[in-house]
Amino acid sequence: MNPAYILDVSRLCIEFDTEAGRVRAVDGVGFQLGKGRTLGIAGESGCGKTITALSIMRLLPRPVSRIVQGRVLFQGRDLPALSKQEMQQIRAGKSP
Ligand SMILES: Nc1ncnc2c1ncn2[C@@H]1O[C@H](COP(=O)(O)OP(=O)(O)OP(=O)(O)O)[C@@H](O)[C@H]1O
Ligand SMILES: [Mg+2]
Repeated sequence: MNPAYILDVSRLCIEFDTEAGRVRAVDGVGFQLGKGRTLGIAGESGCGKTITALSIMRLLPRPVSRIVQGRVLFQGRDLPALSKQEMQQIRAGKSP
């Protein structure tokens, strides 16, 4: 992890279970955000902006969707690996 970044997302892949089978809605997204910086994500409707943001906060609709690959580091912490309680603290803006 590069300490210059507060948020470091790499190779993020998100899948949904649908009636038509398993669908990969986000395939290999990555970006870095420097501390104190603002990042805008632009793209056509349905390209995965909302799903990407929800996945970072671990708010993807369950059980139909999930992160299947990739890494999300926030302040050096691997968000997908945190406990529910730790994640709630992050969402509340309370980093240990
Ligand atoms: N519950 C779901 N089941 C199946 N596919 C879904 C579900 N929610 C979102 N998707 C799919 O995931 C993809 C990304 O959707 P997302 O809502 O992230 O797009 P977006 O870039 O935010 O679009 P918009 O600009 O319209 O807000 C889309 O192809 C969408 O159809
Ligand atoms: Mg959206």
